[in-house]
Amino acid sequence: MVGPATKIVYFSSRSSNTARFVAGLGLPALRIPISGDDQPRPYDPFVLICPTYADGEGRGAVPKQVIRFLNDPTRRALLRGVIAGGNRNFGPTFALAGEVISRKCNVPVLHRFELAGTDTDIARVRAGLKKFWGMECLTTA
Ligand SMILES: Cc1cc2nc3c(=O)[nH]c(=O)nc-3n(C[C@H](O)[C@H](O)[C@H](O)COP(=O)(O)O)c2cc1C
Repeated sequence: MVGPATKIVYFSSRSSNTARFVAGLGLPALRIPISGDDQPRPYDPFVLICPTYADGEGRGAVPKQVIRFLNDPTRRALLRGVIAGGNRNFGPTFALAGEVISRKCNVPVLHRFELAGTDTDIARVRAGLKKFWGMECLTTA
């Protein structure tokens, strides 16, 4: 289901950290499924929230389901920013999926968070998205 208010698309693996983060935001969101072809088709501009799954060399940072989702130019055209999840234990590749998506799709990294995020991450992202979508309305009006 796609409603006009849906402005977040996210992926989360079975460990569900990103899903918990998104639930904490309490905003309408569409999930990219772990398996199957039923990928969401947003009709409105959205921010993507994506965890990082790089190997030791930094390859494969963006989950293949997210790559498939973004390979569609219609979806990519609606992407406005990325928020990346990760784990600081991974050192230099912390939240690397954000940089990769930002570079490839030419959108800003709006935030990085660890695992399911903290209350501070949730508060910052909620406030940041509100401001971000306000600016977006002004620039597309
Ligand atoms: C195989 C594997 C590789 C990972 N690689 C990275 C990495 O390169 N950088 C990083 O910041 N986090 C890395 N992580 C941590 C995940 O991004 C983190 O656990 C995230 O919260 C998972 O989100 P999810 O439970 O929603 O899938 C890795 C986790 C796994 C299992």
